[in-house]
Amino acid sequence: MHAAVRSITTTPFEDQQVGTAGLRKRVQVFKQPHYLENFVQSVFDTHPGFEGSTLVVGGDGRYHNDVAIQTILSMAAAAGVQRVVVGVDGILSTPAASHLIRKHDAHGGFVLSASHNPAGPEGDFGIKFSVRGGGQAPSSLTDAIYARSRTITTYRQIDAPPIDLSQPGETRLGSMIVLCVDSTRDYADLMETRFDFDAIRALLASGFEFAFDAMHAVTGPYARELFVNRLGAPESVLRNATPLPDFGGGHPDPNLVYAADLAEEVVTRQGLDFAAASDGDGDRNMILGRGLSVSPCESLAVIAANARCMPAYRNGIRGAARSMPTSRALDAVAAQQGFAAHETPTGWKFFCNLLDAGDIQICGEESFGTGSDHVREKDGLWAVLAWMNLLASRPGQSVADIMLDHWRTYGRHYYERHDYEGLSAEQAERVMDSLRQRLAALPGQSFDDLTVSAADEFAYSDPIDNSHAQGQGLRVCFGDAARIVLRKSGTGTSGATLRLYLECLRQDPWELRLPTQEVLTPLAVIA
Ligand code: G1P
Ligand code: ZN
Repeated sequence: MHAAVRSITTTPFEDQQVGTAGLRKRVQVFKQPHYLENFVQSVFDTHPGFEGSTLVVGGDGRYHNDVAIQTILSMAAAAGVQRVVVGVDGILSTPAASHLIRKHDAHGGFVLSASHNPAGPEGDFGIKFSVRGGGQAPSSLTDAIYARSRTITTYRQIDAPPIDLSQPGETRLGSMIVLCVDSTRDYADLMETRFDFDAIRALLASGFEFAFDAMHAVTGPYARELFVNRLGAPESVLRNATPLPDFGGGHPDPNLVYAADLAEEVVTRQGLDFAAASDGDGDRNMILGRGLSVSPCESLAVIAANARCMPAYRNGIRGAARSMPTSRALDAVAAQQGFAAHETPTGWKFFCNLLDAGDIQICGEESFGTGSDHVREKDGLWAVLAWMNLLASRPGQSVADIMLDHWRTYGRHYYERHDYEGLSAEQAERVMDSLRQRLAALPGQSFDDLTVSAADEFAYSDPIDNSHAQGQGLRVCFGDAARIVLRKSGTGTSGATLRLYLECLRQDPWELRLPTQEVLTPLAVIA
């Protein structure tokens, strides 16, 4: 079938600069005529090599996902893409999309998601572009795409009816092949190569009480394939496992606020041995054990400390990385075990070069993101399986036992993040600026019994491509004992958000099980 290519005249939008993770705006913004098209065409115009190539397209299933996918398919056909791999119903989790890009050696991919932000006609929408290898576009490319979006005058589409994506199989759109796949199988196959499924199956069969909450977002079908079909758990371990376009009206951010019911059941009422949840697009995770929640910073440190229990890392890891605001719990493990610890700016894309180079195998962020070198995005279900693999390797030990053992060995980094939302850009800048002005004078000054050892604005030089990222957050360190970090969020869709991160290390045995608030309040007062 030959389909005519149409050039459509357009005018630029001024606001297509991507944030920490792609372009995120209100649905109403994305629904404006030409808005999505301008962005997609700017990618095609900026990043050479689409003609004759493979592209991956999918999204978290939120409202507008289906419409946006058809638009992208029609534009890809006009751009001369040879083959598009797309999930059934247009649905792909962020980590599954990264995996498909790698598996099909695709030239890149579009993932439609605004992560955990509310969905629906009044909610948010988003698009991320990933490059070959499965990682999000680097800043040099997103800057070029932004520049292009400000001068664009035409985009191209083909004239053809929408494609049916309800079943796996191959169709044609013009001369382009559309390969519709059940990505849960591909994804579960990959997981089987990383974890000891026999041990996890035995754990689940041993009376271990477990639940997974997909929060009505993308991970439900992936969780069913993994936990029920392949690991033998009953369907009842799955909660909210049907993806809904409005996420059931909820806010699929797996943390103690938005997954409060699950936390209540496991942490307060101590009703299950282990529970976990994932977010809108499946890249975040929350880990709960009977009577406690594991903070993401500590989850990262524990997974790295016990990497050898996973078949993929039988011989240990060369290195691990954390984003700057993530607590230094990981560094304590690296120092004792002798692997390298890297510190990168906020956002998963900064891990990708290190992962590609083999310098790190495990990485994570305080914002409920954990992952490894199996894909180039954080991966919620990977983290859940990593914990199950760890629990299976330590028969009879609970999550609480594992945490206490960890703190005894490495100390405990008490940690908290405070978000100040709904600020004006000026307000946020004024606060940042007043601390920025004081940084140079802080070292040597004492506050209560803490003395500032270093204070700076974090900047990062990528050791692989030598690119430079400046203005990545203000940090005030009190040696290893404590740290205060302040930065501006890059994912909001309105106003400005400031994030304040507080961290205190306690090593004495009687200080390992204190309430976090009690430990951090003095530091909060200093901050
Ligand atoms: C937030 C998190 C960051 C994460 C990003 C995308 O970005 O803090 O760690 O990579 O979401 O999930 P922020 O809003 O802080 O810029
Ligand atoms: Zn997400």
